[in-house]
Amino acid sequence: MRIVGGQQRMWISIACLILASVLAGVAKLASQDVQDRHTLKAPNGVSFSEFRGYARWQDVSVSTTATGVKAILGNRTIVKAYQAGIPANGQPFPDGSVIVKIEWNKAQNPVSPYFVEVPATLKSVSFIEKDSKRFPNTSGWGYAQFLYDPASKTFHPYGKDALFGKTVCYQCHTAVRNRDYIFTDYAPR
Ligand code: HEC
Repeated sequence: MRIVGGQQRMWISIACLILASVLAGVAKLASQDVQDRHTLKAPNGVSFSEFRGYARWQDVSVSTTATGVKAILGNRTIVKAYQAGIPANGQPFPDGSVIVKIEWNKAQNPVSPYFVEVPATLKSVSFIEKDSKRFPNTSGWGYAQFLYDPASKTFHPYGKDALFGKTVCYQCHTAVRNRDYIFTDYAPR
């Protein structure tokens, strides 16, 4: 076996260091989002971080439109309220209730033997939370929506100004004021 000289050893060490840092970078990219979504805030001050852990919440229902598919998930408080018969029983959802709607563009599943559509690119994540003291002008509900850009893999908050929650979201959700402003029913399973 040939003995490796001092200079060669140095080059081998440098190559190993470069390889190690490249691998570490790849691992970091794979394990981390490009952006820390929890630093984002909607223009009304409602922060993404208020909904930490939403991806693991229980499913309330699913819905589809012509182009999209949505999962509607709720935190423990709102799921308990649904199970107690709210909103059908006419009672309001309690403070601490939070519901999230995750929306994707849909596409046909190419490996399925029959026609089925599945989530393709992520479109947006929308939140509604109940806090009567904090949101007195919108019947206790606070709204936030974060739009996703698949190209840059980043979110940005929806809304021109602090009033968007009232003038856009709440405005439309008042169509169901008799269901405490929530459209979705808890789907049986
Ligand atoms: C033009 C009417 C309209 C506007 C504006 C609107 N929504 Fe909704 N929203 C709906 C309807 C209808 C549903 C139920 C159907 C669906 O999308 O699954 C819904 C459902 C939701 C849900 C699931 C809970 C529920 O009520 O069923 C969330 C969360 C939500 N919207 C957040 C928002 C936020 C945040 C905004 C403002 C940025 C907003 N919405 C604006 C009509 C609207």
